[in-house]
This record gives sequence, C-alpha cells and structure tokens, in this order.
Amino acid sequence: MIIAIDGPAGAGKSTVARIIAQKLGFLYIDTGAMYRALTLKALERKIDVNDTAALIEMARSTNIDLINNPDSSLKILLDARDVTGSIRQPSITRLVSDIAKIKGIREVMLGLQRRLGRLRDSVLDGRDIGTVVFPDADKKFYIDAEFEERVKRRYKELKELGQNITPEDIENDLKNRDNIDSTREFAPLKRAEDAIYIDTTNLTIEEMVNKVLSYIQ
Ligand code: DC
Repeated sequence: MIIAIDGPAGAGKSTVARIIAQKLGFLYIDTGAMYRALTLKALERKIDVNDTAALIEMARSTNIDLINNPDSSLKILLDARDVTGSIRQPSITRLVSDIAKIKGIREVMLGLQRRLGRLRDSVLDGRDIGTVVFPDADKKFYIDAEFEERVKRRYKELKELGQNITPEDIENDLKNRDNIDSTREFAPLKRAEDAIYIDTTNLTIEEMVNKVLSYIQ
C-alpha cells in the first residue's frame, strides 16, 4: 500500500507522515530530505547551482538511504554518512528548491523514490508524490495550512533545533520556496485531483493524525 502526502513546507505533512507510518508499521520516505541531501553534497563540492550537468552527474553517483528509527525519527545517510542534522541548515534550505527544479535531478530521485516505495508498504511525503511519483497511490492527501500558521510552526521547529533565525527569515524562505516549487516546469507542487484536502491551520498534531487515519482505515 502506498500513501502519498503532498503540500507546502510547514503545513504539518512530515509530522503526520512520520507518525502515521509508525502507527501503521509502514516505511516512511521523506522525499524532501533526499533533495536536501543532494543540495548538501553540491554545496560541499562547490558545484555551481547553474551547472546542471555537473549536478545531475553528482546525483547519479550518490547514495541516499533513509533509516526509520524505532522511535519514529528518521536518519538520513548521504553516501553512508549521517547528515540528518546538517540538511536542515539555512544554507541548504535556501538552495534546495533551485536544485529540485532541475529535470535530470528529479529523474534520478524519482527512480530512487519508486524503488524504495515498492519495497514495502510506505508513506511518502513531498510535493509531487500523488501527481508524479505514485499517481496510483492507494490514498492521497494534500495537507495545507494558512501562511501565518506555517511560518509560526516552522519558526518554532527551527528554534528548537537551535537555529539563529527570525520570523521574517522564515516568511521569506517559505514565500520563495512556495513560488519556485509551485511554478517550476517539472513536477510542480499541486494538489492531485483525487487527493483528500486537509487544512491543518486549527488542528493539533493528534487531530491531524486522527483525521488522516480516519480516511485510511
Ligand atoms: O519538505 P522539505 O521542505 O524538506 O523539502 C525541501 C525542498 O525539496 C522543497 O522546497 C522542494 C523540494 N522537494 C521537491 O521538489 N519534491 C519533493 N517531492 C519533495 C521536496
């Protein structure tokens, strides 16, 4: 069984996807983390964001593994190195959408995401899961929330990670990524016609999880 969860950053989709995967005993596949891991590698190798050929070449020779921990957290391995913490840094967040819009990069990630998703029952979250990666997913959700609430949640989350950021930084980041992710030519963020739309603005995490589960069970 494949459960697809799409939506913009800060709407609660990763939180819901992770908890639901754990409750159902499914594999959790955070596809945003994969694009973030590639972005980290590109930055470390000082590959220019406009050098698409070099970026695609790099993606083809990269190993990304997602390890589901028993406590429902996720470990991200980039070429066997644990990068779970570093892929959430502002330098990665600033660049990730520009790397994720490259067609050849998406093709490499699509192959990996489909391979992983077919291994076991899975919950995938991202931007194009229900539209492109698994258009035949058993259940599709589009998780959204009002902009101000998304800013608030992301700010709290990153503060808890110890990042030195302001609400204005988050506003700018979300606006910028919403724009690039939803207007790009290949696999833009959009609601699949058959996706269940959930506005989480006024829902607690528990309420979000229960709502999604009620559609699955
Ligand atoms: O979910 P996230 O914020 O970690 O995702 C980081 C970026 O990766 C997001 O701004 C766009 C890109 N992304 C994508 O293009 N397609 C996906 N399926 C998941 C993420």
